[in-house]
Amino acid sequence: MSASISPAKVSTGVAGLDEMLKGGFPQGHVVLVLGPPGAGKTSLGLQFLNEGLLHDERVLYLSLEEDITALEATARQFGWPFDDARKKNRLKMVMLDPQHANNAMKRIMGELPRELDEWKPRRIVVDSVSLLSVLADGDAARRETLFNLAAACRHCGATTIFIGEADPVHPEVSRDGLAEYVSDGVVLLGYDEDQDRHRVRLALRVVKMRRTPHLRSRQPYTIGARGMEVDAKAVDLTSS
Ligand SMILES: Nc1ncnc2c1ncn2[C@@H]1O[C@H](COP(=O)(O)OP(=O)(O)OP(=O)(O)O)[C@@H](O)[C@H]1O
Ligand SMILES: [Mg+2]
Repeated sequence: MSASISPAKVSTGVAGLDEMLKGGFPQGHVVLVLGPPGAGKTSLGLQFLNEGLLHDERVLYLSLEEDITALEATARQFGWPFDDARKKNRLKMVMLDPQHANNAMKRIMGELPRELDEWKPRRIVVDSVSLLSVLADGDAARRETLFNLAAACRHCGATTIFIGEADPVHPEVSRDGLAEYVSDGVVLLGYDEDQDRHRVRLALRVVKMRRTPHLRSRQPYTIGARGMEVDAKAVDLTSS
């Protein structure tokens, strides 16, 4: 019997997305979730961590945007017990304030890799790497910061979501133009308009996922009371 060479899959917590990815994110990958404001990037990040909590994994949310109280309130609204997980030390939420760029950079380039190796989270979300890029001074520092963070996440054995802001002019690429090259996979969230530009629908595409066969089509998704749901079966986004 020949051994399988494909990496194990980690469920994203979104059934339709798992279906598109033939099981989920490859274990140990860094996946960029890219999208415009309000597309549901943070919600997907929280949902991904909640899936880990359901399997009693240790998970980490590194936020440069919303504070922890706001993130916990969002999770609570979706019915995900983040406050409880935090008390049980299964969940860590770390806020790095971009207002204090020096401190944030020192932590990311200094203590964080060691903290990750010690605590060994199975899942990590960084929200967002676009803000992280803003903290770094110059292109070389930006590149180094993103590469180092991705390497630290991989080294501790986690499967990671990097959240990235889409470029306002070219919404299929990241604002910094770097994050997709650092990442092993890219999931693009976005809006889809009908011909009269009245109805707006959310649609998702897996742009790349190294070492994985995946669906390449754009599939519709919704964000509702239980979080994100992707319809992996829909074939024509404009017909209904
Ligand atoms: N409980 C809910 N029920 C239905 N829809 C919701 C719910 N919570 C959030 N949404 C939808 O999700 C959107 C925001 O999602 P989220 O904060 O995850 O987006 P984001 O891509 O992270 O945005 P930003 O770029 O501003 O950080 C809201 O604008 C709303 O449309
Ligand atoms: Mg967000």
